[in-house]
Amino acid sequence: MKALVTGGCGFIGSHLVDRLLSEGFDVVVIDNLSTGRLLNLDHHKGNSRLTICIADIVDYEKILPFFKDVNWVFHIAALADIVPSIERPMEYHRSNVDGTISVLECCRKSKVDRVVYAASSSCYGIPDIYPTPETAEIRPQYPYAVTKYFGEQYAMYWQQIYDLPVTSLRFFNVYGPRSRTSGTYGAVFGVFLSQKLNNKPYTIVGNGMQSRDFTFVTDVVNACFSAAGNQNAIGKIMNVGSDQTYSVNRLIELLGGEAVFIPKRPGEPDCTYADISRIKDILHWKPLVSFEQGVGIMLENIEYWREAPLWEPDSIAEATKTWFKYLGNKA
Ligand SMILES: NC(=O)c1ccc[n+]([C@@H]2O[C@H](COP(=O)([O-])OP(=O)(O)OC[C@H]3O[C@@H](n4cnc5c(N)ncnc54)[C@H](O)[C@@H]3O)[C@@H](O)[C@H]2O)c1
Repeated sequence: MKALVTGGCGFIGSHLVDRLLSEGFDVVVIDNLSTGRLLNLDHHKGNSRLTICIADIVDYEKILPFFKDVNWVFHIAALADIVPSIERPMEYHRSNVDGTISVLECCRKSKVDRVVYAASSSCYGIPDIYPTPETAEIRPQYPYAVTKYFGEQYAMYWQQIYDLPVTSLRFFNVYGPRSRTSGTYGAVFGVFLSQKLNNKPYTIVGNGMQSRDFTFVTDVVNACFSAAGNQNAIGKIMNVGSDQTYSVNRLIELLGGEAVFIPKRPGEPDCTYADISRIKDILHWKPLVSFEQGVGIMLENIEYWREAPLWEPDSIAEATKTWFKYLGNKA
């Protein structure tokens, strides 16, 4: 069996590559290294079953040959930060929407057996219902969320129009070793772990009571793998979450150390919490890593964040100016 992972040099993609190689697949990775790093796959150096193609997924002509004889495609590549998506929406549209249609066309032309699309819970915006089911209203709050949702729509229409065997998985807050350390201010784990390494206080947004459905990366990989292997998943959209929601204050408790509070931001929900009954029913999948175990694994791997940017209240205020400017008064 041969699998292709777009975005395989990134956080989630590289864990998926680990799993596919360990299952005996030949694996092709397509990544333009915009936020991903070759270092994330360094431990597979010399493995002849892994091919890495450095290319932009938008470049259809260049990537098409790599889909030859591929059974399963995992379309994980995307630009995935909030603030840059507000500042550079066309770049986000290009990678996440044009890039997705290019990948879908490669899949269709190459007659691959299965396609799994990495969708985002950000499509729910600030939902009315918790835990949030797939049927909740779509309310993207910023361009990243819009582009990921449009990508999902394309994927589902390619299933409807061309019978492309697509599954879309809406990931909630994924965390784990190798989560992004790129320059932009973003996911809470990278910010806190770098602060911990530098003995600086954690910057808690708002009062820290907001909670997130923190889902460990290997659970997300298991969901991708079982979706690809299950016929009943074709044409389905399914949430992937931890079945729980954890407050930022609880995370700080587990990490240990001092904290400071910074202003709450518009457009961010007070809670993310997936209803995962659909994926449990269809795939018999369930999350296996508890939050306490997951945070423990992050702490064991904390050196990875040594090179991550160190954020402090002033630099965060500067970096999130656009966020307040465009999303303020609308939430
Ligand atoms: N991390 C989360 O909590 C989360 C939540 C919901 C959805 N997702 C989705 O999961 C996927 C992976 O996210 P991640 O957290 O691993 O991010 P990441 O930035 O670590 O990985 C994305 C990868 O895609 C590559 N990439 C981006 N644009 C590309 C392009 N035009 N051509 C080729 N490669 C390109 C990047 O270089 C990177 O390696 C994304 O699609 C993201 O939208 C992530």
